[in-house]
Amino acid sequence: MSLHTSVTDDSMPLFSASLISPDVVAQLPEGYTIRPLQKGDYQKGFLDVLRVLTTVGDVTEEQWDARYEWLTQHNDQYFLLSILDPSSRIVGTGALIVERKFIHNLGLVGHIEDIAVSKDQQGKKLGLRIIQALDYVAEKVGCYKSILDCSEANEGFYVKCGFKRAGLEMAHYY
Ligand code: ACO
Repeated sequence: MSLHTSVTDDSMPLFSASLISPDVVAQLPEGYTIRPLQKGDYQKGFLDVLRVLTTVGDVTEEQWDARYEWLTQHNDQYFLLSILDPSSRIVGTGALIVERKFIHNLGLVGHIEDIAVSKDQQGKKLGLRIIQALDYVAEKVGCYKSILDCSEANEGFYVKCGFKRAGLEMAHYY
């Protein structure tokens, strides 16, 4: 593979950039960008950002590439975003997974997952922008609602993002 091809692959967006909210782009702090996940994000600190959320493990670049390849084959269902600071380091991320139902007339439901902002970047409204960006994708692709699970400690954040408490989460671990 030529160097040129590999660079292109690394910066190819996971999904169409037309699904990125122009309002969110306009409201980011100066020099920050928001865009779909790219294969090259492994080298830009994507997994380190997720480490503020939970354990990530030692994911090799080869394992990342294999998972990224799978995501590209499901990119009408998996929408992962990156926010980059002015030095092009990833400082925030979030995911929307679109579930296709039979009920509600073949309704689509968005599941918001794995929202994370680097510790040193929290409090700059980046979390809010990630949620607004995922809401925009959800609406554009035709979801009638989006739902998420969170801890009590994060409830206030999601209320500020326009969510309200609905139901109760239950889990079975395997
Ligand atoms: N409780 C109450 N209010 C909060 C909280 C909180 N835990 N966190 C932020 N807010 C408020 C802010 O004060 C702000 O309010 P304002 O508009 O009155 O100023 C508003 O919510 C927006 O805050 P942001 O600056 O956008 O928040 P931030 O960029 O720090 O991101 C986040 C919030 C994502 C929770 C971040 O702190 C983080 O990454 N935490 C660790 C990982 C985590 O817990 N992720 C969420 C897991 S749940 C899931 O993924 C579905």
